[in-house]
Amino acid sequence: MRKPLIAGNWKMNKTVSEAVDFVNRLKSHIPLNPPGDSFRGMSDVEVVICPTFVTLSEVGKILEGSSIKLGAQNMYMQENGAYTGEISPLMLKELGCRYVIIGHSERREYFKEDNKLINAKIKLALKYQLRPILCVGETLSEYQDNQTIDVVRTEIREGLAGIDEEQMSQVAIAYEPIWAIGTGETATPSDANKVHKIIRKIISDMFDAKTGEKTRIQYGGSVKPDNMSALMEQPDIDGALVGGASLSAESFIRIVNYDKKD
Ligand code: 13P
Repeated sequence: MRKPLIAGNWKMNKTVSEAVDFVNRLKSHIPLNPPGDSFRGMSDVEVVICPTFVTLSEVGKILEGSSIKLGAQNMYMQENGAYTGEISPLMLKELGCRYVIIGHSERREYFKEDNKLINAKIKLALKYQLRPILCVGETLSEYQDNQTIDVVRTEIREGLAGIDEEQMSQVAIAYEPIWAIGTGETATPSDANKVHKIIRKIISDMFDAKTGEKTRIQYGGSVKPDNMSALMEQPDIDGALVGGASLSAESFIRIVNYDKKD
């Protein structure tokens, strides 16, 4: 049984004071020890927030002792040294990060990250017990050319090259069709599920069937309170990587609860 993983990727949004305000509001909706089982986020799903680097420290302090976990949006593939402007996994670890998003399409596109670099980052994240969320997904033209599977297969094979089964148990995959990111367009739940199922098969072929079965595969791309429950009804969708809709505490709470009602 895979525990759904729902992560909010804030991207380059929120100053420290805005981040502090958000997390305090989120926490006030999520009691540390909830009575009964009413809040799905505490019992049935794993919730992660990935703020900007400069807000990690303050957000981490507020989340301490809560069930909401801290994640980073990126890291560099060296422990330390003369890499101006970069952030090491050791720094993330000390701030309490448990997850790190690697290979987001925006990093691939704007910062020219390739699968080789992404693979090096994943290996270093694993060395420091940071759980990588490896992002994969096709562009609109690749989608229109029916290349989705070839694209995600290459991203997965090259991104996870040299990783063993045990390490793979720490990795989650986020399938984010690039044409659905920030556009309001989403893959239909059943189309997304088809890709997720194939991703699971790719993982099973690379590792083994048990690893394929255990790997959590999130969907990302215009996830909103309105479409979350339909996505989560699909058997191979194990959570979401949420951008825009994770910036409002109210909508993120609804997403975590699969609550589509206003
Ligand atoms: P949106 O939810 O804003 O489409 O962003 C998705 C995403 O890129 C999450 O990593």
